[in-house]
Amino acid sequence: MESSRRALLLVAVAAAAIGLASASFRDNCDIKWNPENAAFSDDGHGLTMSLKSNSSGCLLQTKKQFIYGSVSTLIKLVPGNSAGTVTTYYTSSVGADHDEIDFEFLGNQTGQPYTLHTNVFADGVGKKEMQFVPWFDPTADFHAYTISWTPCMIVWYVDDVPIRVFRNYRDKGIAYPIKRPMFGYSSIWSAEDWATQGGRVKADWSKAPFVAGYRDMVLDVCPCDGADSRPSSPATATWSSTSAPATEPTPASTAAPGRSATAGGSRTVLASPTSSEPRCRRCRRLTGSTTTVSTTGTTRSPAPSAACRST
Ligand SMILES: *[C@@H]1O[C@H](CO)[C@@H](O)[C@H](O)[C@H]1NC(C)=O
Ligand SMILES: *[C@@H]1O[C@H](CO)[C@@H](O)[C@H](O)[C@H]1NC(C)=O
Repeated sequence: MESSRRALLLVAVAAAAIGLASASFRDNCDIKWNPENAAFSDDGHGLTMSLKSNSSGCLLQTKKQFIYGSVSTLIKLVPGNSAGTVTTYYTSSVGADHDEIDFEFLGNQTGQPYTLHTNVFADGVGKKEMQFVPWFDPTADFHAYTISWTPCMIVWYVDDVPIRVFRNYRDKGIAYPIKRPMFGYSSIWSAEDWATQGGRVKADWSKAPFVAGYRDMVLDVCPCDGADSRPSSPATATWSSTSAPATEPTPASTAAPGRSATAGGSRTVLASPTSSEPRCRRCRRLTGSTTTVSTTGTTRSPAPSAACRST
């Protein structure tokens, strides 16, 4: 056996041994907006989400809630003329003063580059945008997009490349997400009023549906579940990895729900299922060292070591 293949196989075996095999979208997520616009592959590990009109997109939410962890998925973005479309991939808490970590892919005219938009909300405050032009055509093939959230830093990866690091400087008074459990989300929706070239280029609805493809999600997270995750207030025992929050997310606008933080528009604030903070299990995995996961021949790099380096 060729040595690179053998290495890959070893990595795959190691990944399976520590439970990082790719997870089924069907089993691990709920489609919260327009389920008719989502289609799972037979084994549930693949998914497409479609944008059919300016009011009919799609939103997926993980069943698990977590504090810290790494969420990764392969995405193939809307090809051709994707102007006016936004595909998002993010984690977010629910309720007031929310925390959120974003990847957003702003579509463009045929032949023009996508914009890869990143942001962080901490204690309800965003304004930490950073944009990138991908060095590849994100519509030609699947690429792995990973959000790694540890007590020390947030890292956005594209395939194996860390494109952005946001460190925890709470000790210097800078807000950082540490206490609100987040869900993982992905969505596709219309943002033709701002997304493409500042809103100058609108969507060509004659080309709809606009379809984003997904494969092989890896959820390596520290779930907020089990007996010790119940909120201290007895009135609101709704945190659980097996049941959805009692209150479903209610998009603030019916014209464009499913959004996460936006570069230009307003944003949807999701309803809060509880006002008190849940207690999560301590996550031993995050104190370990870096591992490498391979599920489909693509090497994925999950969370860096949580041991904070002094800088
Ligand atoms: C959405 O499309 C409909 C029908 O084409 C149009 O009447 C409406 O103004 C559009 N809404 C927005 C928010 O662009
Ligand atoms: C689209 O392409 C234009 C022209 O190349 C570029 O200026 C712009 O940043 C691209 N992205 C978006 C989202 O408009």
